[in-house]
Amino acid sequence: MITTVTLNVAIDKSYVIEELKKGEVMRVLKCTKTPGGKGLNVARVIKLCGEEVLATGFVGGHSGAYVEDLLKEQKIEYDFSHTAFETRTCINVLDREGNSSEFLEPGEPITQEELNDFLGKFEKIIDTSNIITISGSVPIGVDTDIYSKLVTMVKEKGKKVILDTSGELLKEGIKACPTMIKPNRDEVQALLNISVANWDELVNGARKLQRMGIEIVAVSLGTDGALVITKDAIYHGKPPRIQPVNTVGSGDSMVAAFAVGLARGYTIEDTLRYAIAVSAANTLTMTTGSFNEEDMEKLYDQVSITRQ
Ligand SMILES: Nc1ncnc2c1ncn2[C@@H]1O[C@H](COP(=O)(O)OP(=O)(O)OP(=O)(O)O)[C@@H](O)[C@H]1O
Ligand SMILES: [Mg+2]
Repeated sequence: MITTVTLNVAIDKSYVIEELKKGEVMRVLKCTKTPGGKGLNVARVIKLCGEEVLATGFVGGHSGAYVEDLLKEQKIEYDFSHTAFETRTCINVLDREGNSSEFLEPGEPITQEELNDFLGKFEKIIDTSNIITISGSVPIGVDTDIYSKLVTMVKEKGKKVILDTSGELLKEGIKACPTMIKPNRDEVQALLNISVANWDELVNGARKLQRMGIEIVAVSLGTDGALVITKDAIYHGKPPRIQPVNTVGSGDSMVAAFAVGLARGYTIEDTLRYAIAVSAANTLTMTTGSFNEEDMEKLYDQVSITRQ
């Protein structure tokens, strides 16, 4: 079983409108709702890959129950801690020209009791999981060392953990040496307080992170694919050139595919090829954190992997 942790769940609402006009009434042409928060995108993609997945984190109130209903429809197992406050909603407005304007609710603080309840639940969940992914931001009031604590709990039980977050959460989180991290280029620069101008500098930065005790450092590079560094090798995986329709959730799709590859015992090279194919296939669908099997299989054969 792969478990995905989403502490800052949201209902992602997407509005399609003609044009976004300040101070005017606008009719929504199409409205879709999906369970959101990066970890839930990861869960959806793991399920599409054909692996069993459990989603955990916090949900609350009617909107939290709605998130659980949506997951049930998608046949994704869940076991959340319940909070007194309502799960937040995030709105993405897409106009005719393809502009996307996002409105992200801040959410509300969780209490110490709610946090303790989650930690107790998480302890038990680790026992039934082989791999755990931790993604995204945290509710207001949660300390920035929370992911460091979760990673330590997972590692103490000898299980694998992938951490995909940013800012202070990532800085603190890597101190506990997760099995794998998947920063993008910006996140590497912020993490090491460096500016990366070329490939060698990127490799040096990623190598520095790997030497801190992180087994697999995968740096995602959008259209350029991903750089993967382990203690034994350096790989560059590249997708073919494609026409993306929605790149949101590509990083989450990549994390999901890495978790699946590791769970299936693929080699690092095969895992990278699979992760590039799944994440590139995600950009070919409108739905965030989704892919068509056919697209993925076609792309899989076109991914180039070079070992340095
Ligand atoms: N335009 C694209 N064409 C082909 N593949 C893409 C494209 N954009 C993203 N990908 C694939 O998705 C992977 C992750 O994308 P990216 O590097 O943008 O992640 P990210 O910045 O973490 O995204 P997220 O917003 O989901 O956090 C890339 O390594 C690549 O394999
Ligand atoms: Mg990302």
